[in-house]
Amino acid sequence: MKTLFSEAEILAKVEELGKIISNDYKDKEVILLGVLKGSFLFFADLARSIHGDIQIQFIQAESYGSSTQSSGVVKININKNIVFHGKHIIIVEDIIDTGLTLHKIIESIKLQNPLSLSVCSLLIKKNKINSIDFKLYYGFEIEDYFVIGYGLDFNEKYRCLRDIKILEN
Ligand code: IMP
Ligand code: MG
Repeated sequence: MKTLFSEAEILAKVEELGKIISNDYKDKEVILLGVLKGSFLFFADLARSIHGDIQIQFIQAESYGSSTQSSGVVKININKNIVFHGKHIIIVEDIIDTGLTLHKIIESIKLQNPLSLSVCSLLIKKNKINSIDFKLYYGFEIEDYFVIGYGLDFNEKYRCLRDIKILEN
């Protein structure tokens, strides 16, 4: 399978994002909110590249199952005990495709009136940036490939690859 981004390229980009976020959120109470499972490796690297006292939390979302197309139905699982009220929330995603998952997550978090809400996604598929109506940090914009590795799966496979690759079928 063809490598799209090597481990070194990914880590350099994550460091860059960490610096920008550290600067933007200096002295603020931040919750870094990972969307499982796809963001787990990105989340771990990003969390360690952000300077400051951040809290970490996770939520779970699922929409693809064993397909490379969004099912259009997003299942979200948010622990009701997490308090978002009065905090700055940064949602950490692996990839934005249709944007459906994020919109659903943002909708439910906004009900708790956080101080601010932004999203940090490692990848975003091309032509999707125009339709974004929230504050977004992102690593790479990519063509409309289905990608795997560095947390991203196809049918629960390939998550632990160090590079990001294009799935060939
Ligand atoms: P969206 O709701 O269409 O934006 O899809 C977002 C979610 O679908 C991401 O959080 C990923 O978990 C998954 N996803 C979308 N595109 C890909 C891909 O190319 N590879 C692996 N997972 C993907
Ligand atoms: Mg995901």
